[in-house]
Amino acid sequence: MKSVGNLENKHILITGGASGIGAATALLVASRGAKVVVSDQNRQQGEAIVEQICAKGGVATFIAADVSDSDSVIALFAQAKAAYGPVNVTINNAGIDHKPTPMHLVDDAVFHRNVAVNLAGVWYCMKQAIIQMLDNGGGHVINIASVAGLHSAPTIAAYSATKHGVMGLTKSAAVEYAKANIRVNAVCPSFIRTPMVENVLANVDERVRNAMIKANPMKRLGEVEEIAGALAWLCSDESSFMTGQSVVLDGGMLA
Ligand SMILES: NC(=O)c1ccc[n+]([C@@H]2O[C@H](COP(=O)([O-])OP(=O)(O)OC[C@H]3O[C@@H](n4cnc5c(N)ncnc54)[C@H](O)[C@@H]3O)[C@@H](O)[C@H]2O)c1
Repeated sequence: MKSVGNLENKHILITGGASGIGAATALLVASRGAKVVVSDQNRQQGEAIVEQICAKGGVATFIAADVSDSDSVIALFAQAKAAYGPVNVTINNAGIDHKPTPMHLVDDAVFHRNVAVNLAGVWYCMKQAIIQMLDNGGGHVINIASVAGLHSAPTIAAYSATKHGVMGLTKSAAVEYAKANIRVNAVCPSFIRTPMVENVLANVDERVRNAMIKANPMKRLGEVEEIAGALAWLCSDESSFMTGQSVVLDGGMLA
């Protein structure tokens, strides 16, 4: 009998796979039998994750790409297909944030960079994934949004706007491609202990730090393994009737 959540024979591509949520997910889905493409702009860290996977007997390869560059994303998906065949699941996870700042004081360049990576990056990856999935009879696109894509996020409005945009892409594409057997879902975490959040926590005063850590009824940060576990389920065929939805992993913050 096959084990629950078995991901054997699935080719899973993860952007931003060198760190945080992406790295934890790459390690977990590889341990469940997936062939994993770890992609990131950070080659050194990405190759280290691939080494860890291979050392445990998993199958993975690193492909460098900048998701904010359309040509780079086209090359990424071409190389991924050459490595393991058409992508079955893509996890569009690469993202950046910005320093919490009153909206009227945020530089336009910060806004545009957030849009380029978090929104255009997901757009480019979705297009390339869908092209391969249409040819291959189906697939699953999973976008990492945020609770900041579902409700207000004072002082991180530029980030929040991009994540609301990701939710729009997720829902529209889910309806558009359901007939083609392509599912599109999102995952919306609240604060998770990753380098991105550690960096924010290190640069705010103690009052704000405590407020961030205790922003949900569980009064703690989430751990990357808690997001990776949900993603591994989403990657599996057990989630087969789910599309156009978001999995909210927030310790009860939005309840
Ligand atoms: N950590 C949280 O609390 C949290 C909460 C909600 C949503 N998210 C989202 O989860 C995703 C992962 O975040 P994380 O916390 O693991 O962050 P992280 O900083 O640990 O990892 C992000 C990775 O994305 C890569 N990256 C950044 N820009 C890129 C680009 N242009 N091209 C390719 N790779 C690029 C980085 O090199 C890094 O390896 C992001 O989309 C983030 O917005 C995180």
